Amino acid sequence: MSENQQIITIDGPSGSGKSTISRLLAQRLKLTYLDTGAMYRAVGLLAHRQSIDLTDDAAVRRLMADLDLQMRPGAVEAQVIINGEDVSEAIRTAEMGMMASKVSALQPVRQALTALQQAIGAKQAVVAEGRDMGTVVFPQAKYKFFLSATAEERARRRTEQLKEKGLPANFPEILAQIMQRDHDDSSRALAPLKAAPDAVLIDSSTIPIDGVVQWMLDTIKKP
Ligand code: DC
Repeated sequence: MSENQQIITIDGPSGSGKSTISRLLAQRLKLTYLDTGAMYRAVGLLAHRQSIDLTDDAAVRRLMADLDLQMRPGAVEAQVIINGEDVSEAIRTAEMGMMASKVSALQPVRQALTALQQAIGAKQAVVAEGRDMGTVVFPQAKYKFFLSATAEERARRRTEQLKEKGLPANFPEILAQIMQRDHDDSSRALAPLKAAPDAVLIDSSTIPIDGVVQWMLDTIKKP
């Protein structure tokens, strides 16, 4: 593999199937799965716990300067360690998703996490999942995918997931949250959610997950 073949990027909105697809693709290709949303969630959690005023640029810069964030590959998901604490579970709430979206619009946060992600990608071959992997973090990646699905389909999937876990799930509320987050992620000035010009677009609304993964593998194997 040459430099450029070692990074595969998968971007798209929340609920588009990105995480499952990225994880499966990484397994099939024996590459490391890099979940960059988890990194933004970890910063969101920390900012929330420390009651950081997100309009206070100096406070946000201090938070990032003091941050020790490690992504340790795990059996299924990566472990996310902040300042020595495993927060892999704590970051998986809807509230932390919203916090992540808020901190992800801030320049010091994006700058620090982009550098961290590039450092990880420089050391190992990765399937990098997020919003700006193909546009900002790894513009040199040889294979770039952008996944989409209608907001209704994504809300339906999320509702099912929560119900399977026995958690409360209200479809209209989930749909509203998804639409709000799409709007916030796509309209922010810094590294907004958008497809790289050279990304392959895939609508996962109607294609089963396995079909999308197989299709990606076929695309990657083509000379
Ligand atoms: O993929 P996720 O739901 O775990 O991401 C949480 C939030 O983090 C999402 O609303 C936008 C932000 N994010 C980002 O701005 N850039 C990334 N590369 C990954 C996530």
